[in-house]
Amino acid sequence: MFEGKKVRLRSFELSDLEKIMEDWNEINLRRELGPVVPHSRKEREEWIRSTWQDRSTGRSFAFAIDDIKTGAFLGHCILASVRPINRTAKVSIAIYKVENRGKGYGTDAMRVLLKFGFDYLNLHRIGLNVFETNPQAISVYEKVGFTKVGVMRHTDFVEGQYVNDVAMDILEDEWRELKKKEEK
Ligand SMILES: CC(C)(COP(=O)(O)OP(=O)(O)OC[C@H]1O[C@@H](n2cnc3c(N)ncnc32)[C@H](O)[C@@H]1OP(=O)(O)O)[C@@H](O)C(=O)NCCC(=O)NCCS
Repeated sequence: MFEGKKVRLRSFELSDLEKIMEDWNEINLRRELGPVVPHSRKEREEWIRSTWQDRSTGRSFAFAIDDIKTGAFLGHCILASVRPINRTAKVSIAIYKVENRGKGYGTDAMRVLLKFGFDYLNLHRIGLNVFETNPQAISVYEKVGFTKVGVMRHTDFVEGQYVNDVAMDILEDEWRELKKKEEK
């Protein structure tokens, strides 16, 4: 429905479950996303259903990311914790298979998600949190316009080490400025 140069964002379907389960329990993916515990097919099915419910309340908008050319399922991105009075939200993103990372899909999906947030939800600020040990993700976020605004120390314990959590954000004016520059 929402398209970039490389990806299309759409609603999740139950038919995505098989593809999701191919990678969802891989440590290389989950260690960047929070608690590393296995999830069953049933839990992921409930998660898909919860994305429909959350969207209907306007609380959170989860999208499946597809390759625009092949239609292959690549991962997800989410605009969550939407607070209409403050006009803020938080984003997260994951390209599930290692071999699909580093090909520009994440950057393109983030650009489409920001456009959705600012141009369709009328948000004022979009923030995110990322482990300091994830330079690939930080590089993508900086590329699309996010600024580092702080670091919280030792928020998570991942693979035997405490990791710091970097807070980043982008304001609507900054995003519109960037868009203007890109269009020139
Ligand atoms: C983070 C993630 C979403 C990025 O998506 P992606 O499709 O891999 O990213 P892209 O290919 O669009 O861009 C990757 C960029 O990171 C850069 N990069 C890669 N490794 C890097 C490193 N070690 N240090 C700095 N930059 C790095 C690449 O050079 C590239 O930038 P460029 O296009 O300017 O060359 C994806 O890698 C992913 O899902 N990882 C696992 C889950 C995750 O970390 N999610 C985010 C949690 S906050």
